[in-house]
Amino acid sequence: MPDVPPHAPRKIHLTDYQLPSFDVDTVDLDIKIFDDHATVDSRLVMNRQAAGDLVLYGEDVELVTIMVDGEPLSSEQYSQADGKLTISDAPNNLTLELQVRIHPQTNTALEGLYMAGTGSDTMFVTQCEPEGFRKITFYPDRPDVLAIFTTRVEANKRYPTLLANGNLVEQGDVVEAPDRHYAIWHDPTNKPSYLFACVAADLDVLTDHYTTSEGREVLLEVYAKSSDIDKCHVGMQALKDAMAWDEVNYGRAYDLDRYMIVAVSQFNMGAMENKGLNIFNTACVLSSPETTTDARSFNVKAVIAHEYFHNWTGNRITCRDWFQLCLKEGFTVYRDQSFSADQQSSAVQRIDDVATLRAHQFTEDAGPLAHPVRPESFVEINNFYTTTVYEKGAEIVRMLANTLGSDNFRKGTDEYFRRYDGQAVTVEDFLSALSITDDKIENFIDWYRQPGTPMLSGHQAYDRETQTLTITLSQQTRHVNGFEAPKPLPIPVATALFDKASGDIVGERMLLLDQAEQTFSFDNITSEPVVSLLRDFSAPVQLNYDYQDEDLAFLLTHETNGFNRWQVTQMLVNRILLQGQGTKSNPEVYLQALAQTLPTLATDDAMLAARLLDIPSAQELASAIHKDYDPVLIKEQREGLYRQVAESLSPQWTTLYEQLPLQSYEDSSEARGMRALRNVVLDMALTAKVTGAAEWAQQQYDNASCMTERFGALKAMVNHQVANADKYLADFYNRFQADDLVIDLWFSVQAAADNVNTDKINDLLTHADFDWNTPNRVRSVISAFASQPTVLWTSEGLRIYTDVIQRLDESNPVLASRLLQVLARWYTLVEPRRQMAHEQLISLQKKVSSKHVLESLDSVLSA
Ligand code: PHE
Ligand code: ZN
Repeated sequence: MPDVPPHAPRKIHLTDYQLPSFDVDTVDLDIKIFDDHATVDSRLVMNRQAAGDLVLYGEDVELVTIMVDGEPLSSEQYSQADGKLTISDAPNNLTLELQVRIHPQTNTALEGLYMAGTGSDTMFVTQCEPEGFRKITFYPDRPDVLAIFTTRVEANKRYPTLLANGNLVEQGDVVEAPDRHYAIWHDPTNKPSYLFACVAADLDVLTDHYTTSEGREVLLEVYAKSSDIDKCHVGMQALKDAMAWDEVNYGRAYDLDRYMIVAVSQFNMGAMENKGLNIFNTACVLSSPETTTDARSFNVKAVIAHEYFHNWTGNRITCRDWFQLCLKEGFTVYRDQSFSADQQSSAVQRIDDVATLRAHQFTEDAGPLAHPVRPESFVEINNFYTTTVYEKGAEIVRMLANTLGSDNFRKGTDEYFRRYDGQAVTVEDFLSALSITDDKIENFIDWYRQPGTPMLSGHQAYDRETQTLTITLSQQTRHVNGFEAPKPLPIPVATALFDKASGDIVGERMLLLDQAEQTFSFDNITSEPVVSLLRDFSAPVQLNYDYQDEDLAFLLTHETNGFNRWQVTQMLVNRILLQGQGTKSNPEVYLQALAQTLPTLATDDAMLAARLLDIPSAQELASAIHKDYDPVLIKEQREGLYRQVAESLSPQWTTLYEQLPLQSYEDSSEARGMRALRNVVLDMALTAKVTGAAEWAQQQYDNASCMTERFGALKAMVNHQVANADKYLADFYNRFQADDLVIDLWFSVQAAADNVNTDKINDLLTHADFDWNTPNRVRSVISAFASQPTVLWTSEGLRIYTDVIQRLDESNPVLASRLLQVLARWYTLVEPRRQMAHEQLISLQKKVSSKHVLESLDSVLSA
């Protein structure tokens, strides 16, 4: 058995891209799962397309046999090193046959073929993106090698469900082994290995049908544990909605006879778009009113749509190499955001997407993990499934779409699908297709190349005599280490002018700032207006305009764009809370504007009203602080402002709470809005110590018609340490003990509690239901706890956090590395916290060995 040495962490560069020397026509796989291992036989028909060795990748696989054109290779005819199997003198056309042995039962990394679950409740699933296929067998595992796959899966009959990509060709019993059976699947579409999937499990299935606009009858199946199958209806409906939406909005229909979704409880990410056989984290597919909050249920629909949309943007047109990850992810996130915007208030959708972008992507871009949307080098590609690639990637596509306008954008995407269907392409190819109606589009390439969030600054001057308003805008982007000096980017700035007296819009234009500084003028403006900028967040930039507080308060009440009403509240709050960072503001203006807005907005658009009461999280506020960040001070200030809002609006809470009575469950935008606002009002009332608020919480919990109400009440009781909070926590646990996803909520509400301490975290980590092998459970404690910076950034808090990373470094390096990235802004801390954090990170460096964690740690420490 040849030994595969671990590869030295090597950096891979975009500029080194080379065509693979061989492509693969067809692959026949035979995967046999046994009690303590699996064997994989493969047969690859390959052809030379460029000079060079034939290279296959393999990790944690034992080679048993290797044959070329039916002849076994002698050990001199191939070599194995650094996770590669190389055949130097391969003929131009060949059939390669391999047998390997793997160990899915002990695969805790959740990449390749792994066993999920415990005891009698186990299943086998695969995760191949980005480089998991090489943990199944030796293969030219890169996205630009496309092949036709036929897969035979064989397992014990304890696993009645045997699935793989494509169409079912045959199934039956294994003649020599009466307790075993098999199924053969054939996928008629060419695909890269990262889209391969197979499953052996004991699952129930929810079935439905969809007829495409091209007349194809598609069988839809959602597979889940029998106790979860009643929670698959929301996802199934979302799938059908997404299929119809893509036909209408992009002219794209589904191309196979079957679409399968499989729910698995142990999964590193949200879900995976394998061709015709999506694999989903249970958290992203299961939904029922009793067990799932509205926010999570909405997320289920969005993820279902996201994976479905990948069938065209990702699967049929895929990435040439992993540097192009944003090609499929940015575009697909943009598509799922647009889909979601059609399912609810588009302003609220935009608010939520921008809130996520600001809280996570802007933070990433401001620290040592900053990288371009299309990175130029990496050690471990798993470290680049980031909010920059996904969410900033989506913002770039949004700018392209807005710049082109809907008709030309559609012409461009039609051209993209026409030109590149069946190919593995690049970001340049995407821009070139989109630019058929407008060649300026290609200037946006720098958005993909340049890291850092641009700061858009501006001021205005009004000339009464000529009745002109001039707006001067400029842009600055910080120079990120290791990259070229930043260039000015094309920044679309959606702008409207509001007349101060009437509140009417007197000018509206999309300004395109594409230089370092530019001036724009508006004529026939009869008095100095209030300027609203970056409407609907027309570009992913920070905004610094010379507003008076009163201008922002004016916009809060007069903007017609719901997103911008939220944006100005956020600007006001940031000004108040970041006074030490050069801003200043009078909270009274903000409080008065809120008081004025809330009563009518609460009845007109409850969801938007709930959002306007948002105060950025402590982590988000911290991302604006570059030196001497004191978590205790920020927490105090944040809570102080929250209390001020709660107290100054205190007379409104009782009225509002009464206007929002508990109702029987309904899944409409309006009902969701009322539930969201009721939870905010409840928390405000408890903060303001409104008489009776604790009883409201208990009654809301006891009489809840759905999880949004019940969990909202529980969370408020825990955070405000209401007398019976522990009793309610216990009730919640007992009620939902059998439901892992709800127990995740139970863990997270405690780990993220306002008064959490490290003893509590240790208790949760040693609780009988805590499970290191289930990423959802790990995150329910660890990521929740990281939302409390005053506890995280203490010596004991960090010790716990880095111990978790050390522990996961070996068992699940993808998860470990993602958790580590949360610590990126350690260097902004005030002393002695900074020094303490530095020491702990340095000592972690000596205790970890995965290239995932080492690369992230290296970047984090480079700050
Ligand atoms: N490609 C998946 C998605 O965005 C995400 C994913 C990446 C899942 C890597 C698993 C592993 O839809
Ligand atoms: Zn995706």
